[in-house]
Amino acid sequence: MIPRDTVDKIIETARVEEVIGEFITLKKRGANLLGLCPFHGEKTPSFTVSPVKGIYKCFGCGKAGNSVNFIMEHLNLTYPEALKWLANKYSIEVIEKEITPEEKEQLNERESLLIVMQFAARYFVQNMLETDEGRSIGLGYFTERGLRPDIIQKFQIGYSLEERRAFSNAAIKAEYLPKYLVKTGMSILSNTHVEGNEILASEIFDRYAGRVMFPIQDEGGRVVAFGGRTLSSDKKVAKYINSPETDIYHKSKVLYGLSLGKKAIQKNNVCYLVEGYMDVIAMHQAGIENVVASSGTSLTIEQIKAVHRFTNNIVVLYDGDEAGQKASERAIPLLLEEGMNVKLLLFPDNHDPDSYSRLVTAEEFANYLTDNAQDFLIFKARKLSAETKNDPIKKATVIKDLVSSISLIPDAIIRSVYVKECANIMEIEEQILQVEVNKLRRKSGDKQKRTEDETQVTTELSEVLEKKEDKEEIQLIRFEEKELLRLMMNYGNIVILIEGEDDDKVQHSVEMTVDEFIIFELYRDEIEFEDPIHQMILDEFKHEIEQGRLPLLSYFIQHENPAISGFAINNAQINYNLSEKWSKFGVFITDEKNEVKKSSEHFLFSLKDKKLNSFILNLKEDLKVLSHEEIIKTQESIMKLEQNKKRINKLLGRIIIK
Ligand code: UTP
Ligand code: MN
Repeated sequence: MIPRDTVDKIIETARVEEVIGEFITLKKRGANLLGLCPFHGEKTPSFTVSPVKGIYKCFGCGKAGNSVNFIMEHLNLTYPEALKWLANKYSIEVIEKEITPEEKEQLNERESLLIVMQFAARYFVQNMLETDEGRSIGLGYFTERGLRPDIIQKFQIGYSLEERRAFSNAAIKAEYLPKYLVKTGMSILSNTHVEGNEILASEIFDRYAGRVMFPIQDEGGRVVAFGGRTLSSDKKVAKYINSPETDIYHKSKVLYGLSLGKKAIQKNNVCYLVEGYMDVIAMHQAGIENVVASSGTSLTIEQIKAVHRFTNNIVVLYDGDEAGQKASERAIPLLLEEGMNVKLLLFPDNHDPDSYSRLVTAEEFANYLTDNAQDFLIFKARKLSAETKNDPIKKATVIKDLVSSISLIPDAIIRSVYVKECANIMEIEEQILQVEVNKLRRKSGDKQKRTEDETQVTTELSEVLEKKEDKEEIQLIRFEEKELLRLMMNYGNIVILIEGEDDDKVQHSVEMTVDEFIIFELYRDEIEFEDPIHQMILDEFKHEIEQGRLPLLSYFIQHENPAISGFAINNAQINYNLSEKWSKFGVFITDEKNEVKKSSEHFLFSLKDKKLNSFILNLKEDLKVLSHEEIIKTQESIMKLEQNKKRINKLLGRIIIK
């Protein structure tokens, strides 16, 4: 057992923001820090860390605790393991008290597996550098491939001797229990037979004999598995043998290169995704550290989420060969669905990152990466368009393909930007593409594909929503409501100049705050927000302004109503940057603060447009059941509304189409 005062010392030293900051990107928000929650999938940050209180709390999933709890949860450790992990990080000496054999047994199992892996990694490195066989075969191989010694050391690359019991014997000699050698997958039992209740084996031998060894680390940097590459060119021999799934190695969760690369991923705000161990290593050698590979499996959602905590941007660098294309076909839909910005980068002449990095200088390589990454969907649209230039029938089929990719994107506004752009490239009507995308999204109506904000609606409202036919439309309205509130919270006190005409059609310019402008526009057309929480916040704004105050973000974050403070924490941070989203399409290039009038107008008019649409739709529904007289009246209303809609569309067009 770890003595109480040592525990206290560890907790005192391990600053919560520092510990958590190692694993996720945290941004300052007033007295707190905010990031994407590592415990549940989210795209808008609701994971808050309070350095003052020494705790974290996720407003999305409710997980909360101190730095030790975080390490336990995140690295899947027991309480004493987490304490030891932190003690080690902060060089605090832990002198353990005696514990019972049972406690020890339980505590030791995972620890023992990790220690075996640590031993193995050191042993293989030693083999490669200090034995004749290792030097000539293992080291010789890597030297021939151009790997520098510092890189070999950085990745702890090693060599497993050809003698098929070398590792197992060395480990047993060093007093590691055979059962742990087998449980880690480092050794294999052969000729097993059952005698009474016991399983007996006549032989224990090495899984990786005669291979070069790539240790695979978990996010905390501990070796949890190995990939062993054969040096034989015999096609019948498996090129790589990877560790099996064990208590310490969950393949679907681990990414090769993440522990060494996460700082660079965070710093550069982009992650390169490659196929192989050697690609990761070669890129480090070329000075690029923000790179990961999914080792030995196709990319999983869990692996994507692990990267998403550090960046929203991913560049896929898979080989141009058939295997590489298949792999990217599997990976890219998952990345789009996770809401990441996906770029694709192809190397010339079937090169992969490893071979290309050896062909050019480090500088040329880095430039190639930045100059040649193309937005995946745009790339795809261009390619499909070129392929079907004079073949309308074929065009129709490839559009379905494109539509299915676009419809994976969770964010409605980004989706609509792609619809516009891709329609342009494919030379088809934007509406047609939009309708197809909407159809597909409705069809794949499973909850996960909708944006997060929809899941945040109160149950009452979602029941109402279920009944509405056009859920997509409502969802979009809620998006605009949210954006308007966000603008008010962040920039509500900025004074803007509004042009309008009075009853005598005389033009005037009026100065008003963003808050006043938005509230005025909404109340003028008697628009209420669909989402009750949004409406509540709007009322709060109105009330405060009537009292002569201009409440800003901090007011709402500290609000006593948790629904309101939750909204402010989850949805209203400034870093959610419109111009960033749009700038790559040449729309809204300057920073958001300067664009605040335009943004307010855009979201106001587009909200009104959508409201009108749903009024009109409802009235049209009514037509079916009304009397003759009523029908005439209703048709008049519809006409008026449609005129109104035209006016608003014109306003809208003036703002976004440039
Ligand atoms: P590659 O065949 O591209 O290997 O497989 P590589 O890493 O580039 O190795 P070199 O350059 O030929 O030495 C890509 C990745 O697929 C997994 C490994 O993770 C490998 O790094 N793989 C490949 C296996 O798990 N098993 C295999 O038999 C082959
Ligand atoms: Mn390769």
